[in-house]
Amino acid sequence: MKISVITIFPEFFDSFQMTSIIKRAIENNRVEFETIDFRNFTLDKHRHVDDTPYGGGQGMVLACQPIIDALRSIQTEKSHVVMLTPQGSSFVQKKAVELSQYEHLILLCGHYEGFDERIRSYVDEEISIGDYVLTGGEPAALVISDAVIRLLDGVILEDSHEDDSFSDGLLEYPQYTKPADFEGKKVPEVLLSGHHANIRQWRLKESLRKTQQRRPDLLKGRMFTKEEEKLLAEIAEEQQKEH
Ligand code: ADE
Repeated sequence: MKISVITIFPEFFDSFQMTSIIKRAIENNRVEFETIDFRNFTLDKHRHVDDTPYGGGQGMVLACQPIIDALRSIQTEKSHVVMLTPQGSSFVQKKAVELSQYEHLILLCGHYEGFDERIRSYVDEEISIGDYVLTGGEPAALVISDAVIRLLDGVILEDSHEDDSFSDGLLEYPQYTKPADFEGKKVPEVLLSGHHANIRQWRLKESLRKTQQRRPDLLKGRMFTKEEEKLLAEIAEEQQKEH
């Protein structure tokens, strides 16, 4: 897969490309990552990428020409173009999985007061990483690239994303490592038992418990298996006993 980020701050992505799992994914050719500085596509001698808004008002608006020329310089029929704005649809794990299937992802980062509205007609979709306003799209492009790259074949152990929070619509179960007792806080007995079926069921139950406590919205409209229903009933019973 190839990811191209159109930005006026390519240096923002330097440490991202040079660190840990992403660095290894690039070195092992699992992903090609590039930045395109759309300031290099301006036609005026001052290299302006923005201008004052028609109709008046505060701030500057990103102009069409440098962005569209930058886009055209890299776009092919295989490209999927995503614009990062707070007005886009919310980025969730399902969207990361969907984006990871494209051969070429183009992420377009804005700045200042926003994009000239006409730029929207050149993109495939608009994505927001949350209900807050950033100074630019770069942190959003970074978040999306990270979430997508880790899903690509061979980037992390296959099994580890099957257990991810959200991958099956539930939050991840609690994890522990040595020692079995830290300052009197003990690792649950079942995890030391070596009994795989019991461990699997304990993990499912704790995933359900955590999701119900922290993100009940994720359980709304979910179809539960018989086993999940049984475990939820046990959780409810345990909660009643606590009160
Ligand atoms: N640009 C500014 N704020 C943003 C957000 N929340 N998500 C994506 N792009 C943005």
